[in-house]
Amino acid sequence: MLEHPTPEVSHFHHVKIRTLDVGICGTDREICTFVYGAPPGGSDYLVLGHEALGQVVEVGDAVSRFKVGDLVVPSVRRPCADTRCIPCSLDRQDFCSTWTFTERGINQYHGYMTESFVDHEKFLTFVPPELREIAVLVEPLTVAEKGLAQVWKTQQRLPWGSAQANEPRGKGLNALVLGAGPVGILGAMALKVQGFNTFVYSRSKKPNFKASLVESIGVEYISSEAISVDELSRHIGSIDLVYEAVGVPGITFDVLRVLGINGVYVMTGIPAPKAPIPVAASEIMRNVVLKNQAIVGTVNADAEAFTSAIRDLGTFNRLWPKAVRQIITGRHTLDGYQDLLVGKATGIKNVISFE
Ligand code: BGC
Ligand code: ZN
Repeated sequence: MLEHPTPEVSHFHHVKIRTLDVGICGTDREICTFVYGAPPGGSDYLVLGHEALGQVVEVGDAVSRFKVGDLVVPSVRRPCADTRCIPCSLDRQDFCSTWTFTERGINQYHGYMTESFVDHEKFLTFVPPELREIAVLVEPLTVAEKGLAQVWKTQQRLPWGSAQANEPRGKGLNALVLGAGPVGILGAMALKVQGFNTFVYSRSKKPNFKASLVESIGVEYISSEAISVDELSRHIGSIDLVYEAVGVPGITFDVLRVLGINGVYVMTGIPAPKAPIPVAASEIMRNVVLKNQAIVGTVNADAEAFTSAIRDLGTFNRLWPKAVRQIITGRHTLDGYQDLLVGKATGIKNVISFE
């Protein structure tokens, strides 16, 4: 913990925000082992924190979308400086093509684990007051939102198109979520809202807290101790979509073997560098070709993913007020940072509250 200069509004479009909540995730913990992330050039430290909720305390003269008192969530990636980068010039730095983007709290840009922060209004999304308690979950939910956007685009390759106009787009399709961490559980909720028959596949045996949480929203929890990867499609039926939210290459590639015909496999995990492992490469390659499978990586997230995350979080809050709150398993003061960042990982989503 150190003293960091208070950021000030220095641009017409700047907004100054008082930090309310910051979520801790695997990325933060990984940064603390020094295998990921980097401080801004010229700084010998990086302010952590990329999952934040705050309240506007000051606005620059040209700010039109926010006023003092509004609740906002900031995004993470910031555009690169290369004017020839088409994605960044289109505000789609999530697809930055120069690999020189920055990320707040992760990559060469200070994050939100401070009493206040300043950002350009275009990187902020409005949060309705009724989501105050849970809006710190917006950023991890944007991973699923962008992932789903990629799924719909990918499946436009199917000549008959998607579901009927008046039906949810996942109706009649089976989705399997790998992992029961925050990204997995929020992903399962988003898939469920889209009408998929949704399953979560995770290690721990039932009964356990995460299993009861997902089953309370009508998603079946399957323990890999009880049902092997090879038994999955007998249990589920054709696996039309896999949403990987576990970050472990072994299980990720093992489950790729059982993806269904015309299926999509969405990867969201970012494993630390490790030695190569054996995978069933010929089985996978045969399937990918013969079954027209698509594998798509997704890294969050664009402004639209933030807008749809706010909308979906509102839906979760109406449908499953208890379950969505149960994702936040711990609220801590800033003094608790050491245990949260370098101690044993416990619970689902831990949050540092600045209030
Ligand atoms: C964040 C993303 C970020 C990614 C890679 C994730 O934890 O949610 O915004 O792009 O890490 O750094
Ligand atoms: Zn994160």
